[in-house]
Parts: sequence; structure tokens; C-alpha cells
Amino acid sequence: MTGEVPLFDERTLLSTASRLLAREPSLPVALADTARLLTEALSGDGCLVYGIEANGELVVSATFPVRPPPKEPLRMPSGFGVTGRVAADGIPAVLVDDNPRNALHRELLGLEPGQLVSRLCVPARSPQGGCAAVLAVHSLARREFTSGEIDAAQRVADLVGLRVQLARASSALGDFEDRWESLVAATVTAQEGERRRVAGDLHDGVTQALASLTFHLSAAEVALTERDYDYGIDQVRAARATADLAFAEARNAISGLHSPVLEDLGLAAGLVSMARAVPNVQVEVDAQDLDLPVYVEAALFRIAQEAVQNVVKHADAVRALVSLVKRGRSIVLRVSDDGRGFDAPGRVSSALRGRDAASQYGLMGMYERVQLLGGHLSVTSDRGEGTTVEAVIPEVMN
Ligand SMILES: Nc1ncnc2c1ncn2[C@@H]1O[C@H](COP(=O)(O)OP(=O)(O)OP(=O)(O)O)[C@@H](O)[C@H]1O
Ligand SMILES: [Mg+2]
Repeated sequence: MTGEVPLFDERTLLSTASRLLAREPSLPVALADTARLLTEALSGDGCLVYGIEANGELVVSATFPVRPPPKEPLRMPSGFGVTGRVAADGIPAVLVDDNPRNALHRELLGLEPGQLVSRLCVPARSPQGGCAAVLAVHSLARREFTSGEIDAAQRVADLVGLRVQLARASSALGDFEDRWESLVAATVTAQEGERRRVAGDLHDGVTQALASLTFHLSAAEVALTERDYDYGIDQVRAARATADLAFAEARNAISGLHSPVLEDLGLAAGLVSMARAVPNVQVEVDAQDLDLPVYVEAALFRIAQEAVQNVVKHADAVRALVSLVKRGRSIVLRVSDDGRGFDAPGRVSSALRGRDAASQYGLMGMYERVQLLGGHLSVTSDRGEGTTVEAVIPEVMN
């Protein structure tokens, strides 16, 4: 690449340097090529390129001649030695008969013990101010560098400064793009989470209330047809209360509040109230008053609502039992019935997600709520043997 610059010619040097710095996509390769170019143009024996890290430390990042990378790169604290001063002041420096003490530095310069070296150090100044790197050309033969050589080297170094600045800007842009993408992903995830929450609250809260509203209205219709006015009025009143609840559930689902029953009564009493409103099945509740975080109470309440709703819809059961206890450090919610049972999936997993999601949301919703709390959900059932849904939430802390 640079063999075509045998003699020092500033114009050729600058145009070759700007071409390679502009075209070479890899910064380390561009720096190594520039080190070689500068060495050959100034008839030196080699060139070290020091990068400057965020903490100001100088690190040799390219060399000519190319050497196998040492185990530890040559590092110098900010402002240390002549190179550090060049970086700090942005002014070139020439050292004649220099005798570096650092063994790794001597090795990179190819010096024998006791051998002296002449060095020209130029700052790669960044267009935004400050110094982006230092280029240090060395000659084993004793040598004073001329002002023309220093100027030419400085111009090449400034091109390097521009290139390093561009590389930093492009990496900052890359970081920005990555951060932007993760922000978008987080936003989408949050939206998806919110969509699931609204769907879950509508499903577990509102549809349950609507189902029992339908029941009360049907019962009222039958009673009124048979002129059993007292029972009919009772059912209309129950329907009215249930409609109020459905309305409140819908409003809370939209605004992100918890079930109104839970808000008013807390978990244990909320479960009792929920069980009382269930038509056709006698639901007993055995719930300890546990001091649980609100979000855990909300999840457990929704799970119980849906499990009881399933008993009403599918089990054809006479009795059901809802129990909430602390077992060790875990919280166990269990809803069991004496109904017809079904081919249950056992330990519920995300494999359920592929099923008829539109019409069978319940088990999947329970599973997702439990999973969010780091617990597990199991459904045990046999045809004719009833069904038990158990949610275990581990190590709840308040
Ligand atoms: N306690 C139960 N007794 C008998 N079968 C049940 C019981 N619980 C659930 N099932 C069966 O499991 C199926 C899946 O229940 P899931 O709650 O996921 O959906 P769904 O109740 O049919 O619909 P959704 O809950 O979305 O309104 C039910 O359709 C029913 O066949
Ligand atoms: Mg269901």
C-alpha cells in the first residue's frame, strides 16, 4: 500500500494518508497502515500509535513494524512521560538520544540493551478539541527531525484525529441505536403486559359478574313467569347488585385498579364475598388473613375468581372449597370441586398458550399470573372425580 512513497513527499504522504484513513473501515487497520506510511515517508524504523482511553490513559493500539500483541498492552497513565505531555498539551515533541526505561516500550521500539533512539511524537488532534491519539515515529539512527518533517507528521496525525473522532461518533451512534431499540422493545413489552392485564381483569372480573347477572335474570324470568313474585324480586335485586359490580369491575380494569371487592374487603373477606355471589354451587371458603403485598393479593383473587367461575361453568358440581393458607414460606391457594372433572393438563405450562386462546383464556391467564410471581400452577382432575386447581407462590415478602 505505501511502498509507493519511497521518498518524503508531503503531498503524496497526505493524499495517501487521507485515502487510507477514509477508506479503511477498520480503525485498528487504518492506524496500523498509517504507522507504516509515516515510518516509510520519514525513513524511520517504526511508529507506535497510542490511543487515549476515557480515563486519559495512553495505550499502544497499533505498531509498525507489526509485532505479536504482548500479554499486557503498553499503558501509560494520563500525562506520564513525553508521550503523555504531547497528548495533554497537543504540541509535538522530538527526543534525540532517548533511553526509555520501560522494558515493554524498549521491546516495541526494537531496542538492544543500552541502545538509544530518536523519536518524533505528534498529537492526533481531534476536531472537537483535545487529543484523540499520539503517533510516535522512531529512528534507531541518531536524528534531529526537521521542521518540515514535524509539520508533515502533524498533518497526518490530525487526519488520524479526525478518523478516531468519526469512529467514536459512529460507535456512539451504534450505542444510541441499541439503546433506542431496547427502549422500543421495552415499550412494546410494557404495552403487551398492559394489554394482558386489561384482558385478564376483564376476563376474570367482568365476565364473571356478567355470567352471574345472566343467571339472576334467568332465575327472575322463570320466577315471574310462575308468578313467584317474592323470589323474582330477590333475583332482580341480586341482578341489580351484580350489574353494579360488573360496572365497577370494568371501570377498574380500564383504570388499572384492583377488583373493587378486593379493594373494599381485602383478600380473605373478598374471597368469602365472591363465593357468596356464586349461583348454583355451594362454595366454602377457608382463607387465612395473610399480610400479603397488594399485587400478590390481586393475582390470587383473580385466580380464585377464574377457578370458581370454571367450577360454575364446567364442573356441574354441588360443592366447592376455596382455601388460602401459608405453607412454610409459600402461599397456597387451592380451589377444588366435586364435579365431573376433565382431562386436566397437570402442571400448567406455557404449552397451553397455543390452544384455543380466544375461547379458553382462563387456565392460561391463571398460569401467567402465577408465573409472574415466580410460582407454579397445577390442575389435577379425573373424569367423575372433581377438579383441584392449586397455585403456589414462593417466599412472598411484605
Ligand atoms: N373445574 C372444572 N371442571 C371441569 N372442567 C373444567 C374445570 N375447569 C376447567 N375445565 C375445563 O378446562 C377447559 C379450559 O378452561 P379455561 O378456563 O381455560 O377456558 P374456558 O373456561 O372454557 O373459557 P374462558 O375461561 O376463557 O371463559 C374448560 O373449557 C373446561 O373444559
Ligand atoms: Mg374459564
